[in-house]
Amino acid sequence: MRRYGRGANVFFRNVQKDHPVIVRGEGIYLYDDEGNRYIDGCSGALVTNIGHGVEPVAEAIYRQAKTLAFSHLSRFASEPLMKLGEMVAGIAPPGLGRLYMVSGGSEATESAMKMARQYFLERDGTNSPKHLVISRWNSFHGNTVGSMSMSGIVPRRRPYQPYLLDFPHVNAPYCYRCPYGREPEECGVPCAYELQQAIDMAGAEYVSAFIAEPVVGAAAGALVPPAAYHRAVRDICDRHDVLYIADEVMTGFGRTGEHFAVDHWDAVPDMMTLAKGMGSGYMPLGGVLVREDIWSTFYRGTGRFVHGHTYGGNPLASAAGVAVLDYYLEHDLVQNSSQMGAMLMEKLEPLGRNPLVGDLRGIGLMIGIELVRDKGTKEPFPRSPGAVAEKATGLLMDAGVVVYPGGGTVDGEAGDHFLVGPPLTIDEAGIEELAEGIISGLNRLAEIES
Ligand SMILES: Cc1ncc(COP(=O)(O)O)c(C=O)c1O
Repeated sequence: MRRYGRGANVFFRNVQKDHPVIVRGEGIYLYDDEGNRYIDGCSGALVTNIGHGVEPVAEAIYRQAKTLAFSHLSRFASEPLMKLGEMVAGIAPPGLGRLYMVSGGSEATESAMKMARQYFLERDGTNSPKHLVISRWNSFHGNTVGSMSMSGIVPRRRPYQPYLLDFPHVNAPYCYRCPYGREPEECGVPCAYELQQAIDMAGAEYVSAFIAEPVVGAAAGALVPPAAYHRAVRDICDRHDVLYIADEVMTGFGRTGEHFAVDHWDAVPDMMTLAKGMGSGYMPLGGVLVREDIWSTFYRGTGRFVHGHTYGGNPLASAAGVAVLDYYLEHDLVQNSSQMGAMLMEKLEPLGRNPLVGDLRGIGLMIGIELVRDKGTKEPFPRSPGAVAEKATGLLMDAGVVVYPGGGTVDGEAGDHFLVGPPLTIDEAGIEELAEGIISGLNRLAEIES
């Protein structure tokens, strides 16, 4: 099998690693250059929600590229962009109807951060001190400086700490390791009330927004909050005139078994950041969907959001987005995500007997597996962010399954987990195969590590 690494002209993310060559994708499967087949058990990075090789999307891209690939949003609208706005607003929580377009998740969260700031300038005048964004530890909102400042993913923050903005962070609901020692069913969500304290400490007059992933993704492996959490933070934000930004970059477009994860808890945010499933990997696509009155504050004010990226809202990416959403709605992938997610959880139950699996958690087709050295005490593997999760990922690749590893959840260094999030098109046979691959790969890990 061909592998590319240090001999290539490409600067890979990990320059010490050799990379196998992937040549084709079809449905939930990826094929390498020797014809080996892998289940894409994490949709790349929970991106390809509609699966690989969807012809109508490829055709829509081809048609649009021939007609008009690019026009700049500062001067022109386009049919596919208008249609995409309508479609996204059509499935969004009530009141969220204005879509600002970008090309990915970091651009989306960075735009939301700046939009929140400018919203208060437009509303209250240019002396408004509101600018701080409160966020959470064990969160990931992107790799640009603003989005990383909001993120609480310690291994990725550390090298760039000198650049990061001084934003307050509170605990995310991490029920497996609840710092309050409570059970989720009746915990009273003290972690939500940390937001209250953080706002009081900073001074509400300085706080523009609170940002949270409704279900934490890359930073901690599918942390699902207690039922009361999102409504509690909604209420706290309302009482303090703080905007609530739900970062649905990973959870949006059916991943959790609802169109958007906040739909599970009837908590309507003021802004939602979107990407990944929106373009499903066919085109880089992202957006910030906002409440009508945020938009109208700009409309009545200066009229201009002082921000923008060249590719935001381009016709080609928009046409891909329309075709992806058409496919997503036509095949009722929300429903399939919910059903197949429940089935996958059930099929993974034997992992309860694996001595290294500390926690199996998730919702819909967004599942996290936390690996521990000692199941009884929940002791993590020694400090080396994600090393065991990486090892698990390699063994799962050998078993024909691709998953998404991460680390540093416990204290910024120790703590290993990986995400499982296959395309939402997966069927029962695919679930069986995926579960078998995960169970056998992790059994192998247990043999090696014990
Ligand atoms: C919740 C969340 N927000 C933002 C991002 C950043 O998105 P991108 O990698 O497209 O910049 C990610 C990426 O994993 C994410 O999961």
